[in-house]
Amino acid sequence: MTDVRSEKRRAGVFDAPESAMPLLSVRDLVKYFDVSGGAVRRLLYGPRTIKAVDGVSFDVAKGETIGLVGESGSGKSTTARLIARLLPVKSGQVLLSGRDVLKASTSEMKALRKDIQFIFQDPFSSLNPRMRTEVTIGRALTIHFGLRGEARRERVVQLLEQVGLSSQYLERYPHEFSGGQRQRLAIARALATEPSLILADEPVSSLDVSIQAQVLALLHDLRSRLQLTMVFITHDLNVAEFVSDRIAVMYGGKIMEEGSADVVMQRPLHPYTQALFETRPRIGRAGQLRPLEGEPAVPLNPGPGCRFASRCPRRVAACTEQPIPLVAKGNDHSVACIRA
Ligand SMILES: Nc1ncnc2c1ncn2[C@@H]1O[C@H](COP(=O)(O)OP(=O)(O)OP(=O)(O)O)[C@@H](O)[C@H]1O
Ligand SMILES: [Mg+2]
Repeated sequence: MTDVRSEKRRAGVFDAPESAMPLLSVRDLVKYFDVSGGAVRRLLYGPRTIKAVDGVSFDVAKGETIGLVGESGSGKSTTARLIARLLPVKSGQVLLSGRDVLKASTSEMKALRKDIQFIFQDPFSSLNPRMRTEVTIGRALTIHFGLRGEARRERVVQLLEQVGLSSQYLERYPHEFSGGQRQRLAIARALATEPSLILADEPVSSLDVSIQAQVLALLHDLRSRLQLTMVFITHDLNVAEFVSDRIAVMYGGKIMEEGSADVVMQRPLHPYTQALFETRPRIGRAGQLRPLEGEPAVPLNPGPGCRFASRCPRRVAACTEQPIPLVAKGNDHSVACIRA
């Protein structure tokens, strides 16, 4: 672990960001899904609400990457979709360079669509199978920059080179790429609009381990070269550690712990983060792996207290009785736990 961090420091990845003002500021974001079903089910079982994202706040400075970590169902993807306004929000605020994303008009949204790009886990689902690379990437160049013909082709080649693909891929279709190459193509397409924010949702989870490392190294490199700001979603702490400057650990729609990646990785304080640490695979530690007990909780009609309480080894009565806010526990480190 220390090796990764010292390597990152040597590579200058932890250099101070350009400006102190956050590029992205997420404030009290809330999204509930009503899963009560029809009138009869509602009558029989009462209202059923999944509190998928419930008061999520964090800031990311320009050029920083925040790792959103947590088990399945913790609300990571919903958070990203809310930030990009792909889902209607219940309440909260998303500011991108001071612009209020959730209140943007249709014309402002056009600019924001260019500024916020997604990279998904499965590039196949986000790439049109009938489009050659030149069109896949070139379309955005025409729409947003009016580029056509040779100028557009040149820029496509430049973008391909930036992600480690050569011009021989210009005429190819997505199915002619390997998994790793396809994700590189998806990254090139995301970069085509020159976004200030990239939302990467498990971008390496479907790749082989060796390819994962290559694509992570690429993202890492692009991030420093292009001063990209990224929200990087992963369930894998090892991946989060490698890519992140900040880490937010989510569980049941809430942030359990947040802070600079250095601090969170070296001194995790929330029992949930600690459990994630103990269960993560590490080279040479396979024999000591302990599973995290219990199923990840779906935040369905949750009580007022800590959502991790039912699985928490340090639970006391007060944990389930009251909301547990994120509280500062030191420099750039906040934890939502009364036992931390
Ligand atoms: N459209 C929807 N309708 C109802 N419930 C939903 C919907 N989308 C998400 N949810 C629920 O919201 C919760 C959070 O889902 P989300 O996809 O954000 O989790 P996640 O952290 O991205 O998980 P994963 O690691 O599995 O991708 C889950 O309990 C999920 O079942
Ligand atoms: Mg998800």
